[in-house]
Amino acid sequence: MISKKLLDVRTFEDNNVHRADGERPAFHVTGGIGWINDPNGFSVYKGEYHLFHQYHPFSVEWGPMYWGHVKTKDFIKWERLPVAMAPDQEFDRDGCFSGTAIELENGQHMLMYTGVHKSVDEEGVFHELQRQCVAFGDGVNYEKYEGNPVISYDQLPEGAFVQDFRDPKIWKQDGKYYSLVANRCKDGSGVLLLYVSEDALQWKYVNTFMECKYEYGTMWECPDVFKLEGKDVVIVSPMEMEPEEYEFHSGHGVVAFIGKADFENGSFERECVQSVDYGIDFYAPQTLQATDGRRIMIGWMRNWATTNCKKNGTALYGSMTLPREISLVDGRLVQKPVRELENYRVNKVLHENVVVDKEISLPGVKGRTIDMLLRVSSAEGEECSEFTVKVGVGGKHYASISYDSKKGLMSIDRKHCGGRYDIVHERTFRVDNTKDALDMRIVMDNDSVELFVNEGQQAATFMLYNSLEENDICFDAKGKALLCVEKYDIEL
Ligand code: FRU
Repeated sequence: MISKKLLDVRTFEDNNVHRADGERPAFHVTGGIGWINDPNGFSVYKGEYHLFHQYHPFSVEWGPMYWGHVKTKDFIKWERLPVAMAPDQEFDRDGCFSGTAIELENGQHMLMYTGVHKSVDEEGVFHELQRQCVAFGDGVNYEKYEGNPVISYDQLPEGAFVQDFRDPKIWKQDGKYYSLVANRCKDGSGVLLLYVSEDALQWKYVNTFMECKYEYGTMWECPDVFKLEGKDVVIVSPMEMEPEEYEFHSGHGVVAFIGKADFENGSFERECVQSVDYGIDFYAPQTLQATDGRRIMIGWMRNWATTNCKKNGTALYGSMTLPREISLVDGRLVQKPVRELENYRVNKVLHENVVVDKEISLPGVKGRTIDMLLRVSSAEGEECSEFTVKVGVGGKHYASISYDSKKGLMSIDRKHCGGRYDIVHERTFRVDNTKDALDMRIVMDNDSVELFVNEGQQAATFMLYNSLEENDICFDAKGKALLCVEKYDIEL
């Protein structure tokens, strides 16, 4: 049964989607209208890739959460589907928070999410309950299970928090369903709780699978877990991190733990811990396994620390990153844009072995919907201590990406790119400087920049706030650099 609230939001979206015309990026997912945050339910269903997202269509601010819905066959062209869930039941009346999805053997698409319920008791004390709920559907319409919530407080370990119990990751393994849910333990720091079920409805607590102990942030949000080349990988989005040299920045971050999981007993042994994206606007990613076996990740292309910065009068806030193929190289996570992007490359421009020793621009190298590959080395017998590429250049505006070859550091800086809020605009991270050349790939889609360094060893994502007409690209070097540029426009 489609509730009145769901029917109303679907009508609202249909009537308002046009207000965002002209604002939409070309190949990144946005909401129909209004606000989006986390990706949800990124999954394969009947051979197509479905993506849901946290959605508040009524304004460009966060509000009671709905689930918006899109699907794709190739990760680049997306089709918008009717809003999948509204906060329309007693157990989720204050929001359908983040969650995941799975295709069931009986042909149904199952969503697992957090139902939020807020109340004030007789003494005026505020209570927030977060409990895990499920819904079943056919890829368009979803019916919430009448026995919701399926994981409630009676299945919390001692000391757990009822108000910070969210973002279930569901998967099936060895004939059983598992769910990993974020929570806090007695000391207030984040934990991941593991649950098991025979039928995805009756859940049993297994163990505290991982503990943060304030080492990586406080509360952990939006867990994901998957196998990659023989290792187990857990990705979480911690709140309130403390910085660690060039690896982790303060605030909301995204951390990958690579190691070995024991799902029988509910524990995880860490071998490597790293940042997932070294930029500014990246949070709460989810992954799926594509039908050809690739592990594909998509994230929210914003971060809670930057949500104040919006273009005046915008009708749309929030988008997803480009889906990225992830793999392990030398024990670390690497990521590249999905290869399907290459099918949409047009207008190839190639410049080989250009000597850069002052600020230059190159014929045909400009744009804001582009895929650009750069290879930078020192010109023969010359030193090049720093190389800079500026994008979104026009008037007084630009964003810069600079490589310090001596220190092996890369810095992004978008403070001169139209943002009027005093938010984070710069980040610096380590890159491999032991090779003769540095590779960069820069994917821009109107107001976003996704940078991939050295075959995806590091990715850095950030938004720009200036006019789309400011679309020049410049290169500069301290010393003498040798530059190869291969640039394409992306056209759908
Ligand atoms: C992460 C998050 C989740 C929550 C959702 C609410 O960005 O805070 O933990 O489910 O957003 O919109």
